[in-house]
Amino acid sequence: MTHDTGQRTTLVLGGTGKTGRRVVERLTAKGLPTRVGSRSGKPPFDWENRSTWAPVLEGTDQVYISYYPDLALPGAVETVGSFAELAVRSGIPRLVLLAGRGEAEAERAEQAVRDSGAELTILRSTWFAQNFSEDHLLEHVRSDVLAVPAGDTPEPFVDAEDIADVAVAALTDDRHTGELYELTGPRLLTFAEAAEEIGNAAGRGIRYLPVSIEEHATAAAEQGVPGEVIDLLTYLFGEVLDGRNAHLTDGVQRALGREPRDFADYARNAAASGIWNASAASA
Ligand SMILES: NC(=O)c1ccc[n+]([C@@H]2O[C@H](COP(=O)([O-])OP(=O)(O)OC[C@H]3O[C@@H](n4cnc5c(N)ncnc54)[C@H](OP(=O)(O)O)[C@@H]3O)[C@@H](O)[C@H]2O)c1
Repeated sequence: MTHDTGQRTTLVLGGTGKTGRRVVERLTAKGLPTRVGSRSGKPPFDWENRSTWAPVLEGTDQVYISYYPDLALPGAVETVGSFAELAVRSGIPRLVLLAGRGEAEAERAEQAVRDSGAELTILRSTWFAQNFSEDHLLEHVRSDVLAVPAGDTPEPFVDAEDIADVAVAALTDDRHTGELYELTGPRLLTFAEAAEEIGNAAGRGIRYLPVSIEEHATAAAEQGVPGEVIDLLTYLFGEVLDGRNAHLTDGVQRALGREPRDFADYARNAAASGIWNASAASA
């Protein structure tokens, strides 16, 4: 018996971001209709402007929800819960929610989405490997010094390619409805070890420099990182990265029936793309 979901149109919120872009690519490659939900989408979608919500839902059948900036931030529970309610009321109950691991507030957001009556799959994810190449840690890598307040706490970095694979499995096979997949990579790495792996792949020395939360926040502000993102990073480094997530889980294996991608493979691919070359920064 198959559980194929046919030609449903998928709204991918955060569809230009680290996981959403990969979800869109995969669905499109399968010939499945998709709509990008973001401020640059057509029609535009903005979490902070509720009048954009109904137009972007219209004509779609299911939604991948990647909230921005983070479900752990104040206001997110109410916002994402309201969006889920609107989707369900609009006849779109099939939702796949990306959430963060070890975050009490994100778990409240999961519950708010569940309370909407949605047919829900939750992807509860650990730190993405792609934070080193597509987000705030990119500039650190390019400067060869990963100056972050991460102590020596290990983290099982997960590859956004795996998150997208699980999301697409959930969006194309109803057997994933009701599941909660906790997603990690296959290995625990400290930030010092991650820096070493990235250096090996990039072919140059990249070192980890532990700094205080305050030093990190000051440096980020000087680099023009928005205040809300600095607050988020302070929360993630200061509270969530305390060892609570320093264990592996089997979400990728349960959802996909295979092992998760290793950090070394991620680093090799990112290095090959040239993203970590200093010259890419000025391109
Ligand atoms: N990064 C991690 O390690 C990690 C780990 C676990 C869970 N998560 C969760 O993943 C989610 C996304 O985080 P991310 O770091 O991966 O970000 P991301 O998806 O890379 O973020 C960017 C996306 O959000 C869109 N966006 C930004 N502001 C928006 C707004 N006001 N309204 C609508 N769309 C907006 C952007 O498009 P436009 O600019 O076109 O609007 C883009 O598509 C968060 O909820 C986070 O908790 C992240």
